[in-house]
Amino acid sequence: MKTVHTIAEVRAQVRAWQQAGDSVAFVPTMGNLHEGHITLVREGLKQARHVVCSIFVNPTQFGPNEDFDKYPRTLAEDSAKLAAAGCSLLFVPSVDEMYPAGKTQTVVHVPGLGEALCGKSRPGHFDGVSTVVSKLFNIVPADIALFGEKDFQQLAIIRRMAADLCFPVRIIGVSTVREASGLAMSSRNGYLDASQKQTAAVIYRSLCQARDAIAGGRRDFAAVAAEASANIESAGLVIDYFDIRNGHDLKPAAASDDYLVIATAARLGSTRLIDNVSFSLGKS
Ligand code: PAF
Repeated sequence: MKTVHTIAEVRAQVRAWQQAGDSVAFVPTMGNLHEGHITLVREGLKQARHVVCSIFVNPTQFGPNEDFDKYPRTLAEDSAKLAAAGCSLLFVPSVDEMYPAGKTQTVVHVPGLGEALCGKSRPGHFDGVSTVVSKLFNIVPADIALFGEKDFQQLAIIRRMAADLCFPVRIIGVSTVREASGLAMSSRNGYLDASQKQTAAVIYRSLCQARDAIAGGRRDFAAVAAEASANIESAGLVIDYFDIRNGHDLKPAAASDDYLVIATAARLGSTRLIDNVSFSLGKS
């Protein structure tokens, strides 16, 4: 696996592969890679000849009181994992390469999808994500790009943005990878000790209970969400939101919807964890 740091180098390599008739998959990340990321690389390799991965801790998607400075930077371990998984090219730009001082004024904003759920407590976060992903799509002209469904809202926003701005890339969502306890794999799990990880498994259990209640016929969504929130809080977490939404447009769920997502964010100590389950109610 080759590692490059400049836009010119990554573009030249991707174009050379494509001119030779090879397809390219792209996996954008912020590093501190876990099995969820590696699954994206493996899925990419099933669908394309080469996988390009980027590692860039994007400052514009962190709020002033968030964990940008302490976000784990583990490049050596990440490189070894990517090489072992079959990644062909790793792009590791500096902040200056991505945002040359004074030159980046354009912000990509996807209205409608980013205001609720995580957008409420992380104002500006999704603009930071849409902007950096647009830049990365222009830098790495791949055929497909893969993102984890754990970040359901992010994936919905990226799909909308890619469609609206006609990016010639197919967006592929990949199922969340979980610990045996059900806890969704996340770079932020590294902030938790073993006992906190066990505690945090209540998030997925509560999501599944809420899903099963709805699949079993309940449509009193607010009550289902309140019960699940109480369950999570009784384990010692602090709920940011627990919300049942239409899985296509993220609007509040209606009784007639056939595709739903139940999404939550909760804090365990100072660590903010997110997770979701999406499911179809199988109506015709
Ligand atoms: O999901 C992430 O790791 C980041 O939000 C992404 C998509 C790489 C953009 O910085």
